[in-house]
Amino acid sequence: MSINYSERIPNNVDLSGDRRLQRALESWQPSFLGWWQELGPEGTEEVDVYLRTAVSVEARGWANFGYVKMPDYRWGVFLAKPEADRKIAFGEHKGQPVWQEVPGEHRSTLRRLIVTQGDTEPASVEQQKQLGLTCPSMYDLRNLYQVNVEEARHLWAMVYLLQAYFGRDGREEAEALLERHSGDPNKPRILQAFNERTPHWLSFFMFTYFTDRDGKYQLAALAESGFDPLARTCQFMLTEEAHHMFVGETGVMRVLQRTCEVMKELGTDSPEAIRAAGAVDLPTIQKFMNFHYSVSVDLFGGEISTNGANFFTNGLKGRYLESRIKDDHQLPDATWPVSTIKEGRIVAENQPALLAVNERLRDDYIGDSQRGLDRWNKGIQRQGVDFELTLPHKAFNRRIGAFGGSRVTPEGSIINEEEWGRCWMDWLPTDDDHSFVASLMKRVIEPGKMASWIAPPARGINNMPMDFEYVKLS
Ligand SMILES: [Fe+2]
Ligand SMILES: [Fe+2]
Repeated sequence: MSINYSERIPNNVDLSGDRRLQRALESWQPSFLGWWQELGPEGTEEVDVYLRTAVSVEARGWANFGYVKMPDYRWGVFLAKPEADRKIAFGEHKGQPVWQEVPGEHRSTLRRLIVTQGDTEPASVEQQKQLGLTCPSMYDLRNLYQVNVEEARHLWAMVYLLQAYFGRDGREEAEALLERHSGDPNKPRILQAFNERTPHWLSFFMFTYFTDRDGKYQLAALAESGFDPLARTCQFMLTEEAHHMFVGETGVMRVLQRTCEVMKELGTDSPEAIRAAGAVDLPTIQKFMNFHYSVSVDLFGGEISTNGANFFTNGLKGRYLESRIKDDHQLPDATWPVSTIKEGRIVAENQPALLAVNERLRDDYIGDSQRGLDRWNKGIQRQGVDFELTLPHKAFNRRIGAFGGSRVTPEGSIINEEEWGRCWMDWLPTDDDHSFVASLMKRVIEPGKMASWIAPPARGINNMPMDFEYVKLS
């Protein structure tokens, strides 16, 4: 299914056959472009970037690489191919044909789900606005811009659903998605992780590894939805999301590699010496990881959630890879182990699986996060450095759910406020850590050159050489 780029809004949904929707999207487009100009990546009006643009939504060969002037990127509406005779795979409607229109009784819930997902997309663009000014290489600058245009396209994806299926309320929500802003005290983004700052590239890499991975799991759960347009929209977004996590995983890997090289050159693991040599010491990297991991873990919501159960029972949001799970997909009697605090300790208790769908998704996410971490640790090992990164306990630094009001160490012991006050700076980045990392962020844009704190990538984008001019800055 190829994408029609000849229309004002590129799409594969035959937009010109639906005049009402076309008009709605065309009237939203100027607001979007205004938002992009004001809150999209800084100083990119005249920049040519070697970007990947989707040309079809087939699983293979859907992308095309070439220079694009950033404001001319063709944002549009692309849905994965429909699956013939698709049936709802879970919940009380299991086995019935999927819905092509919004079922009346689930209208406000579906709208809320779409708005919550949609809100994160422009939020991350806003969070990353300034990063281009301090990029560690031209290769990284290009990747940042690729992530930014795709997140903005994800906004389009959600706005399409709102405008196509939710009438006037949908149009109002589409406008509101451009009115809330990351970190704005009066009109903040809906989810807290998207109001945090992404002040420098170490945060950016951690964000794309951990927070975009939350996106992957949310999108995968929505890709199971009985509301077929939502499922197909999210299915295609997932293909773009994979690149964001690649940027995060390889980014952190390269920072680690450079740090290990410096440690070996200097023959020391002293953080001061490593910092003085212009690299980030491993304990500081661990702290940034702890932060970004814990705020991302919060995004899955409460451990026990009647909302989550209703989304599932009503066929709106499934589990990760629902159809591959071997059970009845309705969960009347199933249980799932859920952690909770009992007598000052964290213990796992079996709870109704239906109420624990959030927790199950979080557990899937944690397993997936750990896999990349294992690769990072192998990289450290290969360099002969004796250090291991560890994911903190899932109760660490939580604001939401069963652990929201508690202080928990990265190992999972409950401590009091006083002890937390003494120790948190060993576990989470301090202002000093932030200023140190920020002090390393000097813009490097000579093709093929890298900043002091990061190793070059193993290969270029689309098999291009490392010193390729990925971004033409005029
Ligand atoms: Fe996204
Ligand atoms: Fe993403």
